[in-house]
Amino acid sequence: MKHLIVVSVLVIAVTAVLILGLTAADLTPQLASEEGQYVDLMFHAQTYVIAFFFSLVIVLMLYSVVVFRRKPGDTSEGPNVKGNTPLEITWTVVPLIIVMGFGVWGAGHLAEITTRQADDLAVKVTGFQFGWSFEYPDYNVTSSELYLPVGRQVSFSLTSRDVIHSFWVPEFRIKQDAVPGQWTSLLVTPDVVGDYRVRCAELCGYAHSAMYAPVVVVEPDAFEAWIAGQEVASPPTGEMTLADKGKALVQEQGCQGCHSIDGSALVGPTWLGIFGREVELEDGSTVAADDTYLRNSILDPNSQIVAGFPGIMPPYGGVLSDEDVAAIIEYIKSLNE
Ligand code: CUA
Repeated sequence: MKHLIVVSVLVIAVTAVLILGLTAADLTPQLASEEGQYVDLMFHAQTYVIAFFFSLVIVLMLYSVVVFRRKPGDTSEGPNVKGNTPLEITWTVVPLIIVMGFGVWGAGHLAEITTRQADDLAVKVTGFQFGWSFEYPDYNVTSSELYLPVGRQVSFSLTSRDVIHSFWVPEFRIKQDAVPGQWTSLLVTPDVVGDYRVRCAELCGYAHSAMYAPVVVVEPDAFEAWIAGQEVASPPTGEMTLADKGKALVQEQGCQGCHSIDGSALVGPTWLGIFGREVELEDGSTVAADDTYLRNSILDPNSQIVAGFPGIMPPYGGVLSDEDVAAIIEYIKSLNE
């Protein structure tokens, strides 16, 4: 009886210390979606249950090791314990009930966060090595940044152009795979204005760890203003210059996931001022970045790899037409002005 009381007190004390420690450690980043509240609630509840069972096992084990250890000079055999049926039933049934309880509780929350609202905002997400492209079908806008209005459910449809990626904004808590040849879906209701980041949560190649895209959650009127600005930035097809068309293609294909237009080096070389420059290649030779070089670098990028960059760009021969390539080159040239 004395042992039982001491162990019970120790288990409660260690559980309390663990829960306090885990709470202080602040395991989750800022929460910024309605769906995430359910995730956090269950995550914390499970963490507390785990803290209790961890304490139960560790305290019992260490207590037994210390208190029931062999005393000096004691050479007798220990008691021959053959099992304890009530104990075994208890430690099978109790965890079973807890796990099933979490299952039922979680299924209820899952049903709640996968219910589509009538006024949801549709966004098509395309993942590719190594970046993201976002299309707003209701507005005819495509962007490399994910702008979202606060307080409105967003219905994401996700796919991939090459391998499996996973769309994850840690502040929203939930994530979904982007699979080539399939459309998957994810519902998120952002509820805190702020800047976040999409990460890729599926190991997808060389620059997986750099596969980011900015997420900007704004007030609804600021969202409308952004959409209007994007629509102005992309004039109707008839009035587009070749460079405009190139810019639209670049956004659609998500080229800027790897190639910046501000001079910074990402996974690939920047496009700023590239046209007409001498480019040093991996084999030490140099080549002038003219039309032919740019065209070749888009259609068959691995035939001329720029020094200091990995040869990981997918070839766009068969993806882009000659006209598309000409438009993109025109856009690259326009960056020099
Ligand atoms: Cu895409 Cu990792």
